[in-house]
Amino acid sequence: MHATRRQYLMCRPTYFAVEYAINPWMDPARPVDRELAIAQWDQLRRTYLELGHTVDDIEPLPGLPDMVFAANGATVIDGRALAVQFREPQRADEAPAYRDWLEQAGFPVHEAKHVNEGEGDFLVVGDYLLAGTGFRTSHAAHAHAQEVFGRPVVTLQLVDPCFYHLDTALAVIDEQTIAYLPEAFSAGSQAVLRRLFPDAVTASLADAAAFGLNAVSDGRHVVLPVQADGLATALRERGYHPIGVDLSELRKAGGGPKCCTLELRGSSR
Ligand code: ARG
Repeated sequence: MHATRRQYLMCRPTYFAVEYAINPWMDPARPVDRELAIAQWDQLRRTYLELGHTVDDIEPLPGLPDMVFAANGATVIDGRALAVQFREPQRADEAPAYRDWLEQAGFPVHEAKHVNEGEGDFLVVGDYLLAGTGFRTSHAAHAHAQEVFGRPVVTLQLVDPCFYHLDTALAVIDEQTIAYLPEAFSAGSQAVLRRLFPDAVTASLADAAAFGLNAVSDGRHVVLPVQADGLATALRERGYHPIGVDLSELRKAGGGPKCCTLELRGSSR
């Protein structure tokens, strides 16, 4: 199992809150501890730095409580970025903020033509781009992503609203290995995943509900919620090195480590 250095973009949860409900985890009546959210996020950021990765920061904007979920800010592969278009109006203004950051950082940005929520629904595994649809990213966006990135896109149908983004139901562990919750996918998509990844790790519903599949792997170290202990054990048995982090406050918005992390693949101009 060998780790490669990664470059991530993150957004401090300075204005984090649960003020609206756009997924089943969000309950605006339930209090969130923003200070704790920031401390937990800082710990995640430190974990990446300790692993030798680079973390860039985008300035959080007031009035955008979900902007901490940087994975939804874009998809960046081979130094090229595809901008996002959010399904829900509450998050719409995040899209230009991420697009501007990437442009200023020197990444050529392709405009979004259809609803797509970035790495929430687009995951790179080896040469493939796995693409989720059903709740957020539209199917039309998958075809656009294939044109932009020149990688074969595999469409996967999500069927459980609790696992509304692909990155809540499936984790990329290394170039050939994924972990996923089978029942979060349609029967046809489960068959596709079995065909492409016969040796995949399958997660339990309990681990997926702990956001265990919202994991960030560098090929060896897998950063995942500390509560997903069954998945951590399965990964350890396969020779990976799971690292547990606690993001209990961000989970109240339906997010975990991967949601907070946008990978910048390939160098900018
Ligand atoms: N509250 C946010 C939303 O519903 C959470 C986004 C989580 N991000 C992710 N990549 N799964 O849009």
